[in-house]
Amino acid sequence: MSYFLGIDLGTTGARAIIVNGTDGRVVAGATSEYPLDAPRPLWAEQNPEDWWNGTAQAVRAALQAARQEIGPAFEVASIGLSGQMHGVVLLDESGVVTGPSLIWADGRTQAQCDYITETVGAEHLIELTANPALVGFSAPKLLWLRQYRPDQWRRARKFLLPKDFIRYRLTGEYAGEVSDASGTLLFDVANRRWSAEMLRLLELDPDLLPAVYESQEISGQVHAKAAEQLGLKVGTPVVGGGGDQAAGAVGNGVVRSGLVSSTIGSSGVVFAYAEAPARDTAGRVHTFCHAVPGAWHVMGVTQGAGLSLRWFRDEVAGPLEIAAAQATGKDIYAVMTETAAAAPAGSEGLIFLPYLMGERTPILDPQARGVWFGLTAAHHRAHLTRSVLEGVAYSLKDSLEILLQMDVPVAEIRASGGGGKSPLWRQIQADTFNREVVTVNASEGPAYGAALLAGVGAGFWPSVAAACEATIEVTSSTSPDPRAAQVYARYYPIYNELYARLKTLYPKLD
Ligand code: XUL
Repeated sequence: MSYFLGIDLGTTGARAIIVNGTDGRVVAGATSEYPLDAPRPLWAEQNPEDWWNGTAQAVRAALQAARQEIGPAFEVASIGLSGQMHGVVLLDESGVVTGPSLIWADGRTQAQCDYITETVGAEHLIELTANPALVGFSAPKLLWLRQYRPDQWRRARKFLLPKDFIRYRLTGEYAGEVSDASGTLLFDVANRRWSAEMLRLLELDPDLLPAVYESQEISGQVHAKAAEQLGLKVGTPVVGGGGDQAAGAVGNGVVRSGLVSSTIGSSGVVFAYAEAPARDTAGRVHTFCHAVPGAWHVMGVTQGAGLSLRWFRDEVAGPLEIAAAQATGKDIYAVMTETAAAAPAGSEGLIFLPYLMGERTPILDPQARGVWFGLTAAHHRAHLTRSVLEGVAYSLKDSLEILLQMDVPVAEIRASGGGGKSPLWRQIQADTFNREVVTVNASEGPAYGAALLAGVGAGFWPSVAAACEATIEVTSSTSPDPRAAQVYARYYPIYNELYARLKTLYPKLD
């Protein structure tokens, strides 16, 4: 039997799972959390050492659980990595981390984005990288560090994305892969290689960048120190893996034309498989390499999706829901969605804009902020909660609409992430999109996709599509409720108009 280890370096924690290649079952899994620092508005930083320690802890726990389940003969055949995208880790010449990582949710780099757009030219930038300059992407962060952290910059010899830092710690290799590299704005997405032209225009040293592989290719082997620390075998191959969205799509079987996923994690993503690097000339959605050789993907991103509900749980819902969850032994999110279900579709005219971390698709505005519009004394906690779920769904619909405008085929939408697990949030998505939404048997998303990629790299499956075919199937389907769909069709234009009207007010809050 062959077992594959999938690691997902998330925003809130690291997840490690062991997948049995023979039946695709997850035999063991463990998660370890780490903090997120927001020292100033718009800033979001994490300590790469926390990532490594979190990963090590999760991997050890998953291996231990797998050994208990399978017995001493258990061994990991290969490893796949996935993780939060766009973050910047700078290492010095000895491979030591030079400072905190500016992660994907960090929005401090508007000035650097403007500089990039001016220097490269807006159209040329989309020609070179398939994407516009967005504050969360890596290149503007590198320029910010060059400008504001000169000491750190001077010592920097290598730039790695978050999961590639884990690869470095596991194997000693400076390596990345095409899907995550696509989110740096330094990658020639159409040709799947670093863009020499972007490096030249931004005066960045090509030596800073790691080697890039396709996602299923072997990028290195676990070295002795990491093997001892984590309980792995020396020499275990580590494949390229994928950025969390591309790996998550593999984990949901979104590996052929017509398949689309709608994933609600911290961020929310509508992701479509694409046979060619289809570009949105307005740059509202991202065009990145898929974790499937010769394929791309187009995706729209809501910055604060699950993050909005977590914020609501922590800052608004709080004690009542916690007490109810404790009394019933239920998950707090299940309690919250039960509360939300008591309000009707449309939350009786209460609309939430989920721009708690600014927004990417479609408005590309880091200064946008969250809003509740239409609040009255007749609204209860149920309406507030439901409006958060609905606001996120409206935002995902924005992405879906753009994909449809771009003629990207949308035959089946697979709901995943925390939002896919909640029957109410799934129904709200189906009603808002006015389309059927399905779920699949695999619920681990990026970690599962990473494990499948590891299996392909080890030669267990002949291709990524074959790995998905062997392991993933549709298990449920949610149809839109025509009455609710009508309500959302009425509110969605108001949701959109709200931003258009508030846009000029946001900067005044600064
Ligand atoms: C994708 C993106 C998120 C983060 C965190 O562009 O920013 O997927 O990787 O999940």
